[in-house]
Amino acid sequence: MPQGRTTLIEHPFDIVVFGGRGDLAKRKLIPALFHLDVENRLPPDGRIIAVSRAKLSREEYRQQMREACTDCELEKFDPGAWDKFAERLDYVALDGSDPAHYELLKQALAGREQVVRVFYLATAPDLFVPVATNLAAAGLITPVTRLVLEKPIGHDLASAHEINAAIGKALSEQQIYRIDHYLGKETVQNLMVLRFANGLFEPLWNRTHIDHIQITVAEKVGVGGRWGYYDKAGAIRDMVQNHMLQLVCLVAMEPPITLDADAVRDEKLKVLKSLMPMRGADVAQLTVRGQYRTGTMDGKAVPGYLEEPDAGRASDTETFVAIKAGVQNWRWAGVPFYLRSGKRLPSRTSEIVVQFRAPPYALYPESAGAIHPNQLVMRLQPNEGIRLLMLNKQRGPGELRLRQTALDLSFNETFGGRSPDAYERLLLDVIRGRPTLFMRVDEVEQAWRWIETILEGWDREGITPKPYTAGSWGPSSAIALIERDGRTWHEDEE
Ligand code: BG6
Repeated sequence: MPQGRTTLIEHPFDIVVFGGRGDLAKRKLIPALFHLDVENRLPPDGRIIAVSRAKLSREEYRQQMREACTDCELEKFDPGAWDKFAERLDYVALDGSDPAHYELLKQALAGREQVVRVFYLATAPDLFVPVATNLAAAGLITPVTRLVLEKPIGHDLASAHEINAAIGKALSEQQIYRIDHYLGKETVQNLMVLRFANGLFEPLWNRTHIDHIQITVAEKVGVGGRWGYYDKAGAIRDMVQNHMLQLVCLVAMEPPITLDADAVRDEKLKVLKSLMPMRGADVAQLTVRGQYRTGTMDGKAVPGYLEEPDAGRASDTETFVAIKAGVQNWRWAGVPFYLRSGKRLPSRTSEIVVQFRAPPYALYPESAGAIHPNQLVMRLQPNEGIRLLMLNKQRGPGELRLRQTALDLSFNETFGGRSPDAYERLLLDVIRGRPTLFMRVDEVEQAWRWIETILEGWDREGITPKPYTAGSWGPSSAIALIERDGRTWHEDEE
């Protein structure tokens, strides 16, 4: 056993992964379970049963996943550890939409009715309801069953509600785990710790002391082979409805009364309910849509969104979005939340910037340098950490000069080791029956309610995406969105 590692799960479990050969299973789920096993986090009697339509033997499936895990981020792939892990891996070929096929799954699960049973739907969302209904009809839902749903849940409020209602007939809300993998990221969990385990920030965490908040989730990658999915979603459904709004919730929520799932989710729901709806022509002022065009990144030409493989037609889907949002409550009234997310931006950077108000009076002369307001920068990726930017006196006996410097906490340097992937934490939580980091039905639907005010506004006002060159920070109107308020997007000087 690696030193200091303990098995975190006492009881046997079966995880059934629908979409077992899909991109998510290969890139995230199986590698996450493998890492957990390598670190001895799983009990010996934990099984993983992958399901998909392809006719494969168990051995062929294991071989495919071995290749997937060889490329994953474990410092060194250990063939012995893999062979031990592979013993847990089973494969069942079945069509999830066909009720007749569930007999095969029943056989694979027979005799383990008392064991924690997780059905993970890493499939296209149109299979969520058929699979849940078929599982129930086959008698495969037991009191210790948990169902995991990947995003997106629906493409608007009505479709999300329909899915939630249909699944709610097969399982109780306590058995449903709606994943937003951002909640499993170490730094995102740390946000609550930073706010609620330290006394320093909470008294300042309000409209009196905070000027505005910025949340950026920037990606270098383009849409690549996911055009079919992405073109129906766009940045607003793919990133804002879920990941970014969850970040807004964690920044803006009131302290929960306990860390219980419902106590935390009640507070997040209140934030979602406080989001200022986009009314009338507001949407043209408060949002920016963009779509990337051909450009150069790291010295290489990259195609525009409309030239990506599988594209082949004109499209008004946005690959970039910027929003000036407002949280209408006592704590946050008048404090703008600037959000931006996009593909083919210059760097992969996700961060939350809390900008405090400038000092009330300019004591130092202009010749000493600009008075930059303090900023707390929470870096989610890469170089996870926290920086507090403040002014200091530059060394030397000459004229007084002010210089912005950072109190800098790098999680890698401080804690060392590997930062676990979000899915490792979330999979463990599902098996252990801890739903705090998963979205409750009302959160998902409330998020859609707000997003719909934007979608309807875009439709009503005829707002289509503005082009931006791949490798730039989005359309120039995204810069104007913040600069017309006399503020600027944060840029790290690193
Ligand atoms: C997914 C989106 O939910 O999150 C992708 O569907 C996006 O489009 C991804 O690339 C980003 O996740 P991460 O963990 O790489 O920031």
